[in-house]
Amino acid sequence: MEGITDAPMRALQGATGAFTYAVSEFLRVSIEPLSAKAFLRDIPELNNSGLTPTGTPVQVQILGGDPDRMALSAFAACDAGAKAIDINFGCPAKTVNRHDGGASLLKFPTRIRDVVRAVRDAVPIEIPVSAKLRLGWDLIDCIHLNAAMAAEGGASWVTIHARTRAQGYLPPVFWPRVGKVREELDVPVIANGDIWNLDDFRRCQDETGCRHYMIGRGALANPLLARQIARDLGIYQGVERCGVWKDSDWIPLLKQLITYSDYFGNQVPIRNVLRFKQWLKLARNHGNFAHFDAIKQTQTIGEFFDCLSSAIGASNVGATRALLAL
Ligand SMILES: Cc1cc2nc3c(=O)[nH]c(=O)nc-3n(C[C@H](O)[C@H](O)[C@H](O)COP(=O)(O)O)c2cc1C
Repeated sequence: MEGITDAPMRALQGATGAFTYAVSEFLRVSIEPLSAKAFLRDIPELNNSGLTPTGTPVQVQILGGDPDRMALSAFAACDAGAKAIDINFGCPAKTVNRHDGGASLLKFPTRIRDVVRAVRDAVPIEIPVSAKLRLGWDLIDCIHLNAAMAAEGGASWVTIHARTRAQGYLPPVFWPRVGKVREELDVPVIANGDIWNLDDFRRCQDETGCRHYMIGRGALANPLLARQIARDLGIYQGVERCGVWKDSDWIPLLKQLITYSDYFGNQVPIRNVLRFKQWLKLARNHGNFAHFDAIKQTQTIGEFFDCLSSAIGASNVGATRALLAL
């Protein structure tokens, strides 16, 4: 996710052992094809056989509407070490869509096919090329033709975010529609959108019949979710840390993210505070993080951890008192 799941975050999420792979933030192909250097700068895992330091394979995502430039960019990505390419036909951002990229392609099914085909033809056969789609620009029915076109272009699999571009991130998600597309296609379909907890996951599983899932915001809002799902699917052997997440568990997790940021050469410590706030806001809105107000004004890492520790300490005392009063 652009602006959130950069290399340090991918390393952290990869450490759960619950993901089969991660997808990079999108790299936009505009008037010039992207160079291998650009890929190496934004996706440093390419220097490590395409793996996070925690061993999770990273797929390179590109976005754009021009088949030739997308093909040249995909070729450059492989030159840089990419082991898999994903093409973004789902981004709803106005600036992206105005420049013929992301979800704007959903209005032109044959262009989806042409972009996928050009990329497919440009990279070695052992490199999978996949497509990420929304259900349509403003109509959910469009997914049938768009997904078929992606498959006809040679997509090895198709990931479907179960909303239209017009919906932005508003409910509802239309999982049954993803299930219909899965029945129609000969390639795997990956279900995506609004899996916030294990119950959502099980409903998504029932309604789509899919065997593969992409989890975005939910994995950030609830740090145990990916493991809970992987265990439900029978692909996660670890039993530890699947059950109860305590607020105090955030502190080592956030510190671990700093370690990975340092590993990737983050020179701007203030960025850590900004991204912590961005992350914990998601956890407040969609998980059960209760201390966002305590940290939202903090400016430095020291201040951030002081305020967070005090807020957690105070709430633990409150909880203990409540228990004693029972
Ligand atoms: C801030 C933000 C950035 C995103 N960036 C990307 C991106 O770079 N590439 C992509 O394929 N999807 C991107 N997405 C969409 C997510 O991958 C996902 O499809 C969407 O959030 C629905 O899934 P979720 O409910 O599991 O988050 C982004 C979403 C958000 C909220």
